[in-house]
Amino acid sequence: MGEPILSIQDLSVHFFKDKSVVQAVNHLNLQLGVGETLGLVGETGAGKTTTAMSIMNLIPNPPGKIVGGKIMFDGEDVLKKSKRELRKMRGHDISMIFQDPMTSLNPVLTVGDQIAEVIRLHSQVSRAEASIKAQEMLEMVGISGERYGDYPHQFSGGMKQRVVIAIALACNPRLLIADEPTTALDVTIQAQVLEMIADLKHKLNTAMILITHDLGVVAQVCDKVAIMYAGEIVEYGDLSDIYEHASHPYTQGLFGSIPDLDKDTDRLNPIAGLMPDPTNLPKGCSFSPRCPHCTEACKTQDPELREISPGHTVKCLMFQNQEE
Ligand SMILES: Nc1ncnc2c1ncn2[C@@H]1O[C@H](COP(=O)(O)OP(=O)(O)OP(=O)(O)O)[C@@H](O)[C@H]1O
Ligand code: SF4
Ligand SMILES: [Mg+2]
Repeated sequence: MGEPILSIQDLSVHFFKDKSVVQAVNHLNLQLGVGETLGLVGETGAGKTTTAMSIMNLIPNPPGKIVGGKIMFDGEDVLKKSKRELRKMRGHDISMIFQDPMTSLNPVLTVGDQIAEVIRLHSQVSRAEASIKAQEMLEMVGISGERYGDYPHQFSGGMKQRVVIAIALACNPRLLIADEPTTALDVTIQAQVLEMIADLKHKLNTAMILITHDLGVVAQVCDKVAIMYAGEIVEYGDLSDIYEHASHPYTQGLFGSIPDLDKDTDRLNPIAGLMPDPTNLPKGCSFSPRCPHCTEACKTQDPELREISPGHTVKCLMFQNQEE
């Protein structure tokens, strides 16, 4: 990777409740190069949305707080930006498609005006220029520009999702974060929307973080994969590292015993047991209560990330101890 566009260093995010603290993200490190697409995969509650919201500096405080770490975007620390700088960054440099995108459209504004509004907010153009650009954006996501004046309720679910993507891409962001962008759609539309995202990414060279439970989606769109468990990245690498050489016991469990790019592994395998309670994480390796390879050492020693081949890192004592 050349100079990364995004670099997250030792990020920890907690939510403070009455008597307990949810440790949603714990000492997370992640880098993303210009134009790269990263798949962020993990079970529900792993901390994926919290990580995404941190990058936008949108963690609701209270109850949430970024308790440690640094998020560098294009050489600047997102967490040190003023409110004004953040407003400029969101939508312009970094865009996010939220987990429930249907709620991001305003029912009383036409879809064209909603796209044009974002364009005008972030660039010095006239109303007329913004509306032409908005029509182009609609065409780009496969909707006729003539539908500029229609309202969200006049569109199908898949089309609404395309509009949300058009809004997210309207200002040519350098980073797009898509949090489960196709989960609410039926399978055929999902495939179309994904194809469109993959296509746009190549055209615009936008870096992307794609959050998903769907391994078929990861295989189709991503260059890099990060596997997240209990607020940590437990394995990270190229698509082929993860699909052909899955090494962390959690990744192996998720993919079934033999993950294979050629096999149709679309669903995460259910692994026996539950994610640990984030208000009371186990000592040592957080996966130890569910891990088939757990030893006594795993229950007390928190593994460090180790690079097992160039660019492929794993957080498991089996690999750490091999070296020692
Ligand atoms: N506003 C909040 N207040 C309290 N706890 C929160 C809040 N937001 C998230 N959490 C907790 O932080 C942890 C991580 O949640 P997060 O939404 O990041 O998970 P996720 O990986 O996106 O899951 P999913 O796949 O279900 O979307 C969970 O235990 C969740 O309950
Ligand atoms: S450190 Fe131990 S418990 Fe954790 S994943 Fe590795 S083998 Fe399993
Ligand atoms: Mg989420």
